[in-house]
Amino acid sequence: MPELLKPEDPHTLSPERKADTTRVGATTEEEIQISRPSLRDWLDLRLGWSGFVRKTLDEPMPAGVGWWQTLGNLLMTLLMFQFITGFALAMYYSAGTQSAYESVKNITYNVPLGSFVRGLHVWGSTIIVLALVTHTLRVFFWGSYKKPRELTWLVGVFIFQVILGFSFTGYLLPWDQKAYWATVVGTRIAATIPVVGDPLLNLIRGGPEVGSLTLTRFYAAHVMLLPALLIGLMGIHLYLVRRHHIAGPVNPQRGKPEPFFPNQLFKDAIVQLVGVGLVIYLALSMPPALEALADPTGVDVAPRPEWYFLGLYELLKVMPAGFEIIATGVIPGAVSLGMIFLPWLDRSESRHPARRQWIIVTGIAVILLIGLMTLKGLLDTPPPHIPAPGHGTTISGH
Ligand code: HEM
Repeated sequence: MPELLKPEDPHTLSPERKADTTRVGATTEEEIQISRPSLRDWLDLRLGWSGFVRKTLDEPMPAGVGWWQTLGNLLMTLLMFQFITGFALAMYYSAGTQSAYESVKNITYNVPLGSFVRGLHVWGSTIIVLALVTHTLRVFFWGSYKKPRELTWLVGVFIFQVILGFSFTGYLLPWDQKAYWATVVGTRIAATIPVVGDPLLNLIRGGPEVGSLTLTRFYAAHVMLLPALLIGLMGIHLYLVRRHHIAGPVNPQRGKPEPFFPNQLFKDAIVQLVGVGLVIYLALSMPPALEALADPTGVDVAPRPEWYFLGLYELLKVMPAGFEIIATGVIPGAVSLGMIFLPWLDRSESRHPARRQWIIVTGIAVILLIGLMTLKGLLDTPPPHIPAPGHGTTISGH
């Protein structure tokens, strides 16, 4: 029999070859196998799954890539957990000024594992912000935003804003004193923007005051708009990371690129285990509190925004009257624009920090300003007012 017409071992055939029913020389048994591929082969033919997995495992990692490059995948894992715990909470949560507080109280004290799942969600958000900042700083100091990764960075900057949006909208949902007053102060920032300030404030709050429409709008953004944006942006980000591959260290190291599997995958797995383990530990050891029910008439309440907005809040507090716009608009606007246009502002060929001095110095100045202001905010923040359990609507989770 000529070589070309010899029947081949069906176990060694690629799915495409197995499904090729027009081949000459196939026996009846083979024909059945070919016309009825296994479910796995059938799916593979349609989805190209095994090729995708192979390509992912073979993704080339330049020499010198290591622990710092595990943060992106850590973020993905933490976000996946955040979606799951968020879905679980949404099954018990009710977004209305009359019901939000009671539903969170119910989750915290009655629903089996409710306090734990709420803890996972609350601590998950903090660890995600920490991982996000570290990932961004890693990319910044390595100069990995440079050609051809400008768009990878740009999409990342939008992701950053979306994640802060999640935190800001989520903070209001328990509708306790802390949530209410932080949102009053946070949304007031919008009003300081010239010309569009008041209409913008009305749009965000759904009226002049923080009230039932504010809660509905924040919930809609938190569970619909922001997740849709995040999934879309993450898809583009990951596509771009794959398209341009990971940048090596600033000083190229000797050695051939290694495939992602096994070494880098192993490092990723360890970091993900530590990250998820940390969130679980925090959720168990420091369950989230619930303060008194929101009271819009409260007079002596000190607003306490989430820790990652404290820097901005402190900046606002130190501004003399009439200059608030510097803290609310000029500085955050300049930092955001600087981040957006960074790859085009820093046009030097080299990725080495020593050859990008003005960018690095500016970056460190911004980090120090935010860091010091946040620290000042943490030190100035009064302890939460959590009355003892059993006193009507005021209950602590601790
Ligand atoms: C949900 C948030 C994010 C996820 C899931 C994510 C995911 C990833 C992954 C998996 C990688 C490759 C591995 C690594 O370098 O760690 C990566 C690289 C990168 N990310 Fe992100 N990222 C996120 C946010 C951001 C942000 C906020 C920025 C910048 C503002 C950013 C900019 C970049 C850049 C420029 C690269 C390429 C780095 C290189 O080639 O060395 N990412 N990201």
